[in-house]
Amino acid sequence: MPSRLKVASVVGARPQFIKLAPVHRAANADGEIDHLIIHTGQHYDPLMSDVFFEEFHIPKPDINLGVGSGTHGAQTGAMLSALEEVFEHHKPDWVLVYGDTNSTLAATLTAVKLHIPVSHLEAGLRSFNRRMPEEHNRVISDHAADLLLAPTDIAMENLRNEGLYSRAVKVGDVMADVCLSAKRAVQDQQAQIPKSIDSDKPYVIATIHRPENTDNEVRLRLVLDALRNIPVPVAFLTHPRLLARAAKFNIGLDGGALHPSGPLGYFKMVRAVMSSAGVVTDSGGLQKEAYLLGVPCTTLRRETEWVETLLDGWNILDADLRLVDVLASRAAPRSRRMQPYGDGDAAVRVVGELRARGGFSGA
Ligand code: UD1
Repeated sequence: MPSRLKVASVVGARPQFIKLAPVHRAANADGEIDHLIIHTGQHYDPLMSDVFFEEFHIPKPDINLGVGSGTHGAQTGAMLSALEEVFEHHKPDWVLVYGDTNSTLAATLTAVKLHIPVSHLEAGLRSFNRRMPEEHNRVISDHAADLLLAPTDIAMENLRNEGLYSRAVKVGDVMADVCLSAKRAVQDQQAQIPKSIDSDKPYVIATIHRPENTDNEVRLRLVLDALRNIPVPVAFLTHPRLLARAAKFNIGLDGGALHPSGPLGYFKMVRAVMSSAGVVTDSGGLQKEAYLLGVPCTTLRRETEWVETLLDGWNILDADLRLVDVLASRAAPRSRRMQPYGDGDAAVRVVGELRARGGFSGA
């Protein structure tokens, strides 16, 4: 009979709660895993956190560190010292970290320093842009972690190029697990977008939250003007970072094509994207969801970690904000999309990889 394995998942920001959902389900289904859920408190607004635990039926976190917002150093430092105490007390067999946020980095460093095996889910992604906080977080986490769970062939190649191949396994993308099952669940529902938009006519979904687009006043004004000029209504789903910066610079988030509203829960988001004519975003997760749902995406960045989405023009990089041109000449490509993100079973593989190693084997 397999021995029980204690796995501590550390999450803190919105996309990590979504990734946690299928992993928690797979860990439960294993029957011999004690899955401890640790929330750092990086995201604390109910619409950025609680809503995902509720809609995916994830139990409330066992521990919430309540770290909240702050500069990178203050936020990451607070997590480091709080996590040390938690890991020492609970002594997990594995710490599982997700993606590329400050919560990922803090949990990885804490575990490594305590000699607790750590596994990085979504390993091997690279933007090669060293000004992005996420790039520091993912590179350092990959180099520190014991087991690298990569979503794609390209991620495996990136890890090979950095000499990390022997610690890496391709498992597929857990976000594809979630997105593909949400698509099936919501296809018969009505899309819920801001009431001022007629959902039977073409509309675009837009989100902006990267510091490179929000934190400089001139850039933020340019981004908003470009969105205002889109020739169809824009359901503009506002992230707290955007709200905070717009308030600081005294900039309105309406006018022109813009119809602002707060963030959506996951299922509503998937449904709204499915009926949209296009997505405009700087979010990594949303680029990929648009691809998986067959909706053209325009990404307001110079580079993407999810390079597979660029194939055949499903996703276009548009840091220069040629948005109107890009959208006006754009229908969904006719090409068949490949399945670079796996078949929806990544989380089961994640749990299988941890289970196969049991307690630490020096992976
Ligand atoms: C973080 C991640 C980013 C991820 C994003 C998803 C890092 C470095 N970045 O960015 O990779 O794509 O989450 O959303 O970890 N705020 C609130 N309420 C909240 C959370 C944040 O009002 O619940 C505001 C605060 O003003 C805060 C700002 O948003 O200072 C930024 O939050 P922070 O957690 O620092 O990073 P994100 O921009 O959300």
